[in-house]
Amino acid sequence: MIRLSKRTEVELFISGLDKNSTIGFVPTMGALHAGHISLVEKSVQENDITIVSIFVNPTQFNNTEDLLHYPRTVSEDIAMLESTACSLVFIPEYEEIYPEGDTISESYDFGDLESVMEGVFRPGHFNGVAIVVRRLFEITQPHRAYFGLKDFQQLAIIKALVAQLSLPIQIISCDIVREADGLAMSSRNVRLLPEERKQAAKISQILCAAQSLSQSKSVEEVKKFVINSINTVPLLSIEYFDIVDSASLCSISHWTDTQEPVGCIAVHVGKVRLIDAIMFF
Ligand code: PAJ
Repeated sequence: MIRLSKRTEVELFISGLDKNSTIGFVPTMGALHAGHISLVEKSVQENDITIVSIFVNPTQFNNTEDLLHYPRTVSEDIAMLESTACSLVFIPEYEEIYPEGDTISESYDFGDLESVMEGVFRPGHFNGVAIVVRRLFEITQPHRAYFGLKDFQQLAIIKALVAQLSLPIQIISCDIVREADGLAMSSRNVRLLPEERKQAAKISQILCAAQSLSQSKSVEEVKKFVINSINTVPLLSIEYFDIVDSASLCSISHWTDTQEPVGCIAVHVGKVRLIDAIMFF
């Protein structure tokens, strides 16, 4: 595996590839876990070359505490990637991605996709995600790019970005990888204190119970069940839970409103904010 930090080096690497080689790209913010690795492995299966980026992107953090405490484990990350068939890891400095410094004028409009859920509680977040992902796409020139369903709204935003810019990139969604007790793997999980970590498992357990309930209960009843159940768990405090159409992200009122209902949740566990998603189809 090659490790590069300059955009020009990556461009040179790509220009040296066989013209028929397909490139799969997995953007990450590092602190890699089995969830990230599942994306890398899928890309390795489906492409000749796999590029992973590790870049903690400041423009998508609306909370400075969160950015400050975001785990950074580059040597462990590289060791994990060495155990896969990843071809290249790109680990740029800030200036490499943002040569203009901190006066960034690029801005996107994703309409209703960004005005709900994460968009309400993390203003500016998806604009930062779109800016960095677009720039990383420009550098890595992928045929396919891999994103996890855990960040369900992010996936919808990235699909919209690719459509808006008519980029010839196939966006591949990847299943959520979970710990043995169901907790969705996340780089932020290491920040949970032992008792918080224990209680955090209830998030996915409650989502799983909601999935069973959806067979017999209304959308409203399932929403109430999730919100009430989370709030009775010590140390958990719900920020939002909504059941939306997978494409438009519009709230649904009846199960028949969409073929693909998805439940999206954000929960505060002590100082850590976690998100998860459950497909009701
Ligand atoms: P990060 O949180 O590092 O996640 C990188 C990718 O891994 C995302 O597509 C995310 O959905 C996926 N992922 C994280 N946990 C997962 C899990 N448990 N199962 C499956 N996939 C999982 O998301 C970002 O970084 C950033 O916003 C980024 C897209 C890199 C832009 O900065």
